Amino acid sequence: MSAKKESKNPAETAVKEKRQVAAKLVPIYIMGKRYEVPEGLTIMKAMEYAGYKFIRGCGCRGGTCGACGTVYRKPGDYKLQVALACQKTVEPDMYMAQIPFFPANRAQYKFADLTSAPEEVFKLYPELFRCVACNACTKACPQGIEVMDAISALKQGNIAEAARLSFDCIQCGLCTSRCFGELAQYHMFQLARRIYGAKILPRAEHLAEMVRTINEGRYDQILDELKHVKGDELKKLYQEREAEPMPAGEDWKPKDTKYL
Ligand code: SF4
Ligand code: SF4
Ligand code: FES
Repeated sequence: MSAKKESKNPAETAVKEKRQVAAKLVPIYIMGKRYEVPEGLTIMKAMEYAGYKFIRGCGCRGGTCGACGTVYRKPGDYKLQVALACQKTVEPDMYMAQIPFFPANRAQYKFADLTSAPEEVFKLYPELFRCVACNACTKACPQGIEVMDAISALKQGNIAEAARLSFDCIQCGLCTSRCFGELAQYHMFQLARRIYGAKILPRAEHLAEMVRTINEGRYDQILDELKHVKGDELKKLYQEREAEPMPAGEDWKPKDTKYL
């Protein structure tokens, strides 16, 4: 991100001034510099209001990509707080800095060669056993994940439990930034979820059957025909298709089963 110059556009400036009059302003400190921003803004919007332009450290703006990890402190409070800049609204006098990326060891592996044995994780991430059970990672997680418990599950060889506990991980890296044992929790969790999804969960037979059907060319001709339909006609086909009702029963099928 970088501070941008004051706008030369009078209309833009007027809108900004009007907003300043209408909203109550609160002081915040971004990387040590004081700004006054309208209360009720998220940290991300407040930073943009203050003139910062996000090139990195911003993605979905919806709390799911993990790009906007932020740390802050309130004056007189010893505790370091964490937040996602796109979700947390500003509070007066918060001192903040963003951590859009935190360097962490990511093991290299060929996934197809891995088994579902816990030893695979131990081999790739031996630092797993450096965990001192301090729980700092759990306290740092903006997703409310029991990070230490998920690490404990991995240490005990319970990949399924680690995958379950870490399901909501958005890879923000804030846990890693606080870890005494220098673990890269989120990379370990990603490996656990991959192994669980691909090598522990039972295979869905109907999915395998559908993949086989596709590979055998069941849809080749249909797709080829659709590729030659002109734009407006294609739109019409799409808009007039029979949509699945909500809620639909398990055995629901459209009347025209040509595309199934
Ligand atoms: S487990 Fe770590 S990387 Fe995942 S969301 Fe929580 S703090 Fe972020
Ligand atoms: S912060 Fe690191 S050392 Fe502490 S409990 Fe979490 S994984 Fe273990
Ligand atoms: S921008 Fe994606 S989580 Fe905040």
